[in-house]
Amino acid sequence: MSPVEKIIVGLEERSYPIFIGPDLLNVADKYLVDYISDRQVIVICDTVTGPIYQGSITKTITSVCARLDNLRVPAGEASKSFSAYNALCDEILNIGIDRKTVLIALGGGVLGDLVGFVAASLLRGIDFIQIPTSLLAQVDSSVGGKTGINAKAGKNLIGAFHQPKLVLVDTSVLITLPKRELLAGYAEIIKYGLLGDAYFFSWLEKNWFNVLSLKQEEIIFAVRRSCEMKADIIAKDEMETGMRAMLNLGHTFAHAFEAVGQYNGDLLHGEAVAAGLGLAFDFSVAKKICKPEDALRVHAHLIEVGLPDDYSSLPAGKASASTLIQHMKKDKKAIAGNLTFILANKIGGACVMPNISENELTTFFMAKGVNHV
Ligand SMILES: NC(=O)c1ccc[n+]([C@@H]2O[C@H](COP(=O)([O-])OP(=O)(O)OC[C@H]3O[C@@H](n4cnc5c(N)ncnc54)[C@H](O)[C@@H]3O)[C@@H](O)[C@H]2O)c1
Repeated sequence: MSPVEKIIVGLEERSYPIFIGPDLLNVADKYLVDYISDRQVIVICDTVTGPIYQGSITKTITSVCARLDNLRVPAGEASKSFSAYNALCDEILNIGIDRKTVLIALGGGVLGDLVGFVAASLLRGIDFIQIPTSLLAQVDSSVGGKTGINAKAGKNLIGAFHQPKLVLVDTSVLITLPKRELLAGYAEIIKYGLLGDAYFFSWLEKNWFNVLSLKQEEIIFAVRRSCEMKADIIAKDEMETGMRAMLNLGHTFAHAFEAVGQYNGDLLHGEAVAAGLGLAFDFSVAKKICKPEDALRVHAHLIEVGLPDDYSSLPAGKASASTLIQHMKKDKKAIAGNLTFILANKIGGACVMPNISENELTTFFMAKGVNHV
């Protein structure tokens, strides 16, 4: 039996633990007791994770809390919407809550972002716990307190920073996650190696097959290292005024690819991130801040594991440079229309690159064979 890993996200009075290990759902009461004892708890799943996991968590914690209710929201990105937010708030308020009520988000990144935002706003903020069930949520979205929903104008444009009280990562639940979703989550793991830990990236090059085969030792190491790196960055820059932006390596490209696809489900977030990582390294090479060999290694690893490494292979691969740039200008890092990118000096060395001009970006896209208009 693998030991349970514990990481602390150090945010003074808002610090919280992340527990990582196999089969933790079945012993969730042991980890949650201090946070839910004698309190009202509402467990929220989506319509895919609910039927699989809601029963076991409620069975485990029901004797610990004062009252337990279960809710479900439709699975899929469409639930990060005003209407889903509104419906969930109403359902929770109809149950009746007080300031000590705790929400538990048991699901992927969509559910965690939505429930976190609901927790941030109900009664001006109540406690919530993340029990992430997708690989992407386990290594990224459940940690760091970014919560929110999408607007017509773009992704994640409405939200709040609201830290969970605890994150419980049960690596055994990944067994039921569809392979494509698993691979999409792995893209975020690659991102951590590329942005700040060259040794970790080399380890992934050697051990990716065991990670994706869910060998417990390797998957736990990969999840732990990712959470550790994210926790470290969050502790230094919770509100993204500086180095937290490094976590967006590849994401300015990725968000544009997702926007072109209009979030219709053909392209998963992690797949867009994978292609974005490939392009971020290519752009870094084009700007002569990174060696071509490093970009080749990034592409080789993405291809080897079966992730997209370039925009042209994505479903919306025919969008013009100007369309992509228009979407990039809506990025939250853009200031007064000027584009800022997270690029890389080397594998394991991300850097912030402000003031990227449209011309420079157009030239880069055209060199990659993307049409101008
Ligand atoms: N808050 C943040 O810091 C942050 C960071 C990265 C991504 N995100 C957000 O995360 C979202 C993507 O998250 P995601 O990739 O988890 O998508 P998701 O929540 O839609 O989950 C993917 C699919 O897998 C299913 N699923 C989840 N766990 C499962 C399991 N164990 N077994 C079977 N099915 C399972 C879900 O029901 C869903 O159908 C995006 O909206 C993105 O913007 C947020």
